[in-house]
Amino acid sequence: MTDSDRSAGRGAGDAEESQDPTATPAVDESPAKSGAGGPPAGVTPHGHDSAGHGRGEREKPHGFSRRQFLGLAGLGTLALGLGGAGGYGLASRKAGDGMSGAVMKKSYPFRGEHQQGIITPAQQQMHTAAFDLTTDSRDDLIQLLTDWTLAAERMTMGEPIQDPSTDKGAPPGDTGETYGSGPASLTITFGVGKSLFRTDDGTDRFSIGDRMPVALENGIPKMAAEKLDPARGGGDLIIEACSEDSMVNLHALHDLTRVAFGRATMRWTQLGYGRTSSTSKDQETPRNLFGFKDGTDNIKAEEPEEELNKRLWIQSTDDQGSWAAGGTYLCFRKIKMMMEVWDELALGEQERTIGRDKLEGAPLSGGEEFTDPDFQKQSGGAPAIEADSHVALMHPDNNSGRRMLRRGYNYLEGVDYLGRLDAGLFFIALVRDPADGFIPVLSKMSQDLLTDYLQHVASSVYLVLPGVGENDTYVGQKLFS
Ligand code: HEM
Repeated sequence: MTDSDRSAGRGAGDAEESQDPTATPAVDESPAKSGAGGPPAGVTPHGHDSAGHGRGEREKPHGFSRRQFLGLAGLGTLALGLGGAGGYGLASRKAGDGMSGAVMKKSYPFRGEHQQGIITPAQQQMHTAAFDLTTDSRDDLIQLLTDWTLAAERMTMGEPIQDPSTDKGAPPGDTGETYGSGPASLTITFGVGKSLFRTDDGTDRFSIGDRMPVALENGIPKMAAEKLDPARGGGDLIIEACSEDSMVNLHALHDLTRVAFGRATMRWTQLGYGRTSSTSKDQETPRNLFGFKDGTDNIKAEEPEEELNKRLWIQSTDDQGSWAAGGTYLCFRKIKMMMEVWDELALGEQERTIGRDKLEGAPLSGGEEFTDPDFQKQSGGAPAIEADSHVALMHPDNNSGRRMLRRGYNYLEGVDYLGRLDAGLFFIALVRDPADGFIPVLSKMSQDLLTDYLQHVASSVYLVLPGVGENDTYVGQKLFS
């Protein structure tokens, strides 16, 4: 995105427009609006005011305010000085100074039945990291989750994790690189990996081994001829930060890593820029690095709750038990795309491979972008959409109705040893049950024409924890109760 795009809010303003009641509602943080007395229009029961303060009742779940709790709990060695104005309140970035003001002021509720960052309209920038615990203490783990929860809640409101201190003799409580930036639609989403429940040698470090979900135990089976890098997958815990500003994401991961010091270390991290799917009907369909519209036929937040419960959200009757209800599974595939080869393919061949027209994104059976593909339609004696095209193989009609919520991002990481672009798709699918919603569909990619231009380099599955309840102290609390 160019600077002029940014100041015009292009490509980033989709979230701003979302009014859908089923989507995680956005909160306008405009100080001008909220200074007028009552809560600004659009503020939900989980909303915050312009200084990022939550409503009174949600600030004091256990007699402590969350601000006080942050200082008194596990972050004690970081700087004190709570109670001052938050960084966002201190100095808001001026419109035209980088990302437009309105985009930078947007925030999403942190608490709710489901975590944010799943059906939240996909933001433009992503920064994901997995962590390995360096402690075997259950208490330390719970304290870390508590500290992360408090820090994440503040950051998603556009506040530093601790208010700026004037104590020149102590390190600042927040690393400070986004003081005054605003939340920029930041969502922070937490998940757990297989090794949190049991390590490869069978050790149950945190006494939760009996709660291992089948989907984590089984993982994602190897695809034919794939060679994945184990160092780029796995991990005890995963955090995904998404926002409209890469610096806001970087700050979130920087500070959460700092908070984890002595308890967890970062195992791998992935930057993604440019969303490759829409998760709300209000959003324009973006394009991937092969230049095709991606995310046309995706699960969208506006779909009936019944469908979301069937495809996306873990139910209390599912195998892992009620502690996980309201969560979902995040399956990722880091896929390198052979851009140099693809770029030299004739347009017709590119379209035949995907099964859609490049410019409009319409299925090759005709119509417009959102016209349903017709896999029976013939053209010149052959199917208009080839049976081994990507869309034909992935479409729910040819997969017993299976659907997934795709929420992937493009990546570019320089050049490989042959001088080719090291770029591709950090593919993310969110599903209620990977064995039903993801793995059977993924396995069909071995017949996919698209596979000739791809190399899968890393993969893992995590359980995204249920939402943080109003009175919860930390994310994933039910797992330990
Ligand atoms: C770099 C790898 C990939 C590229 C470039 C790619 C690209 C695309 C494109 C251009 C579309 C058509 C637009 C749309 O309906 O969203 C599409 C659809 C789709 N893709 Fe992929 N994709 C990739 C990997 C995957 C993977 C790993 C999966 C999951 C196993 C997947 C699942 C789907 C599904 C379910 C659809 C919707 C099909 C439909 O309902 O018509 N894709 N993809």
